[in-house]
Amino acid sequence: MTGSESITSSARIQRQRNERTRDDWDQFAQHRQQVTHLLTQVAGQRRAANEVAGYQDADKKDSGRVDSDSLLILGVGNGNDIDLPTLDAAYWSITVADIDPDAITRCMSRLPHPLAQRITVKCPVDLSGALHSLPRDAATASDADWDRFIQIAANPKVDSIEPCDVVVSACLVSQLIDTVVGRVPASHPRFADAVLAIRDGHLNLLARLTRPGGTIVLITDVVSSDTLPDLARVSPAQLPMLVRTAIEARNFFTGLNAAVLMHRLSPAVCDRIAGSQFHGPWRWQMGHRVYAVIALIAQTVSAAPSDSGPENDGVDADGGPH
Ligand SMILES: C[S@@+](CC[C@H](N)C(=O)[O-])C[C@H]1O[C@@H](n2cnc3c(N)ncnc32)[C@H](O)[C@@H]1O
Repeated sequence: MTGSESITSSARIQRQRNERTRDDWDQFAQHRQQVTHLLTQVAGQRRAANEVAGYQDADKKDSGRVDSDSLLILGVGNGNDIDLPTLDAAYWSITVADIDPDAITRCMSRLPHPLAQRITVKCPVDLSGALHSLPRDAATASDADWDRFIQIAANPKVDSIEPCDVVVSACLVSQLIDTVVGRVPASHPRFADAVLAIRDGHLNLLARLTRPGGTIVLITDVVSSDTLPDLARVSPAQLPMLVRTAIEARNFFTGLNAAVLMHRLSPAVCDRIAGSQFHGPWRWQMGHRVYAVIALIAQTVSAAPSDSGPENDGVDADGGPH
């Protein structure tokens, strides 16, 4: 498999998954409501903070729009999990990105024409920035092949996308990691390094695609009812404790320990981050499975440092069942 065949094969898997959920608009309702509410709240909080700071962008003010922030949604897919018309009222501009052109076409076709025209689409784009370098055969790849992949994955270059004020990762990182999990046996000596490079590279990308003084919203599924059957049964009040206990028992998707994600998106690890908060968990019903979803919201510092983002030190091989 060449680099471009590797991209094509991963894109095909994502296309098949999006095809399966294309008609799940109704089933996604609760999850969509959570995501949309969170992003509307972020817009409101930023607007309030900007007003307090006396900030007004002259260009935006002249246009008559009240809202000032650009929104970038990574992994928008079919758009089942985001109410774009609602967000259009809260943001100055919206850009969406995905590897699957069919899913984005479906997403756009559901929108009123003027809104679909206003949204900027970046597709197809490999948001891992590294599919082309993922060794095609884990068993025969050399150390140099793995070193190259890990280096590229940890510092992804996605030059086709401009930085925005608010950058959302919409249940994308679990799919990026799943690509590695699907290709590299967990027993492989470079498995943990490869997974962590993809995860930390994604956090790195989020930090770099978010403008100084902006907001990162990392939304991710962390565990499903496959390994935590009570997810489908507990009351909303019991959900946080159930998920916390599962995480403490290391029952979470490979590379997606919520506590580690929170740490890595903190000022302690990334000098582009000024502060971060945890939201959720909430439930996402997809087919017969229920997922626990969390959101990490991080503010970027107002003057961007010259380095890239969270380092990949490879220390926290927090693999759980996937
Ligand atoms: C779980 S879905 C998110 C749900 C989606 N927002 C929806 O409502 O349909 C993850 C999305 O990430 C996209 N994705 C997966 N790997 C990608 C990659 N390497 N580059 C860009 N997008 C990718 C998939 O095509 C899919 O649309």
